[in-house]
Amino acid sequence: MTAASAAETVSPVPLSKTELRSAINELRNERNAVILAHYYQDPEIQDIADFIGDSLELSRRAADTNAEVIVFCGVHFMAETAKILSPEKTVLIPDLDAGCTLADDCPADEFEKFLNEHPNHIVVSYINCSAAVKALSDLICTSSNAVHLVNQLPKDRPILFAPDQNLGRWVQRQSGRELTFWPGRCVVHETFSEEALLKLKIKHPQAEVIAHPECLENLLDLSDFIGSTSKLLRHSETSTSKEFIVLTEPGIIHQMKLKMPNKRFIEVPGIDGCSCNQCPYMRLNTLEKLWVCMNSMEPTLEMDDELRLKALVPIERMLEMS
Ligand code: 13P
Ligand code: SF4
Repeated sequence: MTAASAAETVSPVPLSKTELRSAINELRNERNAVILAHYYQDPEIQDIADFIGDSLELSRRAADTNAEVIVFCGVHFMAETAKILSPEKTVLIPDLDAGCTLADDCPADEFEKFLNEHPNHIVVSYINCSAAVKALSDLICTSSNAVHLVNQLPKDRPILFAPDQNLGRWVQRQSGRELTFWPGRCVVHETFSEEALLKLKIKHPQAEVIAHPECLENLLDLSDFIGSTSKLLRHSETSTSKEFIVLTEPGIIHQMKLKMPNKRFIEVPGIDGCSCNQCPYMRLNTLEKLWVCMNSMEPTLEMDDELRLKALVPIERMLEMS
């Protein structure tokens, strides 16, 4: 069935979770769709996905898939990257409003002014940015390859790193390169409380602290291992430790518990003990919205081809260099 004829199909609304899951499975076959999900999605979305990964792995999957339809259960910049890499495919996102503070707080026009104030810099942008910002960048990176990529850049050129200054500071320390930062921060990773972490360390003295590099520096300084979501997962599998304090969005703990039922994973609360350690954008996607978008074949991710081709250059450079 083509995407256009599928869009005309109207199915009765499945009511229970079991009905929803079987309706999604049927649509996946009918549409020749692949469901890609980030680790920060609700467990029920992770459980139905064909592939779960970090930003780099999800980009690679989006570029390689034979499916006609990519259903991207993540945030907008991730679905946009899938469209940039696979323009001939229909890319669906369950909730178009699933943004990201890093991408939203770095508008392309202001970023362009910032670049003009810093001429001759190599512009390295974290994949958590809009296609328009990617189009202004020399190289895209993710949290899993940022240090490796920056280490390959010519030593005689200054580097500008955007939009996450916390990741940038960590890359600066790991690579020994001086970086100029765009002042962006992730609303989720900056809310972890140092006091709560210290209390948890006292209560669980044997636990390893594993952290995402988007966290603030004072928390990274208290961590034993730092890496992308996939690296945190792999590290907890290979480590001999039995307990882990997890400094990232707790959605990933679902995979950790599934893969390591005998290990213990402890989430860190936000500054006021709130549950703001959950990404409000990632969590906009629900099983119900997943079914709705696969049934109606919208919302789709659309992009102007001129912008797409410009944004593709630094992404392809990243894929070649990683
Ligand atoms: P990863 O690439 O490590 O999965 O990170 C994506 C992200 O948005 C973290 O907040
Ligand atoms: Fe963006 Fe932070 Fe959510 Fe990741 S956790 S998608 S960086 S807002």
